[in-house]
Amino acid sequence: MTQDEMKKAAGWAALEYVQEDTIVGVGTGSTVNHFIDALATMKDSIKGAVSSSEASTEKLLGYGIEVFDLNSVSELSVYVDGADEINAQNHMIKGGGAALTREKIIAAVADQFICIVDNTKEVPVLGTFPLPVEVIPMARSYVARELVKLGGDPVYREGVVTDNGNVILDVHNMKIVDPVTMERDINAIVGVVTNGLFAARGANQVIIGTPEGAKKR
Ligand code: A5P
Repeated sequence: MTQDEMKKAAGWAALEYVQEDTIVGVGTGSTVNHFIDALATMKDSIKGAVSSSEASTEKLLGYGIEVFDLNSVSELSVYVDGADEINAQNHMIKGGGAALTREKIIAAVADQFICIVDNTKEVPVLGTFPLPVEVIPMARSYVARELVKLGGDPVYREGVVTDNGNVILDVHNMKIVDPVTMERDINAIVGVVTNGLFAARGANQVIIGTPEGAKKR
């Protein structure tokens, strides 16, 4: 099975968490794209979606799924999204697609975060994947210096502007043994909008695409 087939297995397996007559939280990325393909098969029995990126919004609208502004939604039972790395405690690094802030906001609103990944995303310790940090543009150099003090090696993701008009620093060479504390410490740097650690609010359910099919944990 290819990596994309494993992503597809995870994306389609997440459909069982979608309840009829609800608005579904939809993340961003190639695994989520498979979930959107699956969601389209029940588009007439859901109210619609909230989306974490312009890319996912476009794909949802292409299927005729209505996309709501999060401010008009008071309840979200599930949020389905991928991850760049996930550990055994269901803490994640996200933001490879630069959509981390919107992703974290929707995850905060949802009752359940369903994380869909292929088995290459499972790691014992987070940090091999560079940790994305969304930063207000004028604070970029200051935040980079502060991230060095935390032990990281920040690299400006040149040419990328987030959907919120900000920039991304990718922090290399971090061995994140305490993700909850690291998430909080990075968020405390003035000029940081969000960091890609999803630890204080991890995943409630993980669906892993494997060569044997989708497995839950
Ligand atoms: C988007 O900003 C990320 O958080 C994605 O969830 C993550 O990069 C996973 O992407 P793939 O499903 O494409 O691997």
